[in-house]
Amino acid sequence: MQLDDAVRGRRSIRTYRPQPVPDDLIDSLIDLARHAPSSMNGQPWTFTVVRDAALKRRLADIKNQYCPAEKRAFRADFMIDAAALVVIAVDRAASHDRAVENGVLAAATFMLAAHAHGLGTVYMSAFRDDEPAVADAVRQLLGMPAHVLPISILPLGYPDEVPPAKAIRPLREVVFHERFGQR
Ligand SMILES: Cc1cc2nc3c(=O)[nH]c(=O)nc-3n(C[C@H](O)[C@H](O)[C@H](O)COP(=O)(O)O)c2cc1C
Repeated sequence: MQLDDAVRGRRSIRTYRPQPVPDDLIDSLIDLARHAPSSMNGQPWTFTVVRDAALKRRLADIKNQYCPAEKRAFRADFMIDAAALVVIAVDRAASHDRAVENGVLAAATFMLAAHAHGLGTVYMSAFRDDEPAVADAVRQLLGMPAHVLPISILPLGYPDEVPPAKAIRPLREVVFHERFGQR
């Protein structure tokens, strides 16, 4: 798939076919994601592939438990139907004070790679600076050491939905020249 098509075609997928995703396919997506940029080229990330049903349930419970009140209608239970949950975490010591950016860029790269290979994902935060308990709970559940910071949880599976078309803000609205607000 051409990069333009992957960028335009990627959508959040929250319904998955009950079909396993081969380990070597997940490995190939991680192989691509580890080419993401990182501060000082620290490459601080790890990708924990969670397939165990009980662990998937616990991760969904963590997302539900710490969901902000205004987002409670958007439950995380669909996560348990994903073939795998890929938890991206970063080593703080190798992050050069840019832990979140490093993790998110790897996640974005992974999501595009997944779409390009016919798989669906959706970005879910494992880290929120207003609620450190989320990352603490994920870290504890997956046995990560204290210096490792979970950033993202990416459900992964073969899509069983076609999301409705999404309106994209007009280019003119988001592009300025030389000064903010200048068109
Ligand atoms: C930082 C961030 C957090 C998100 N958290 C959730 C989430 O908790 N649950 C969920 O279903 N989708 C979540 N999403 C997915 C967004 O809802 C989705 O990207 C957005 O609606 C645009 O749709 P698209 O991804 O299909 O283009 C999150 C996306 C981002 C970037």
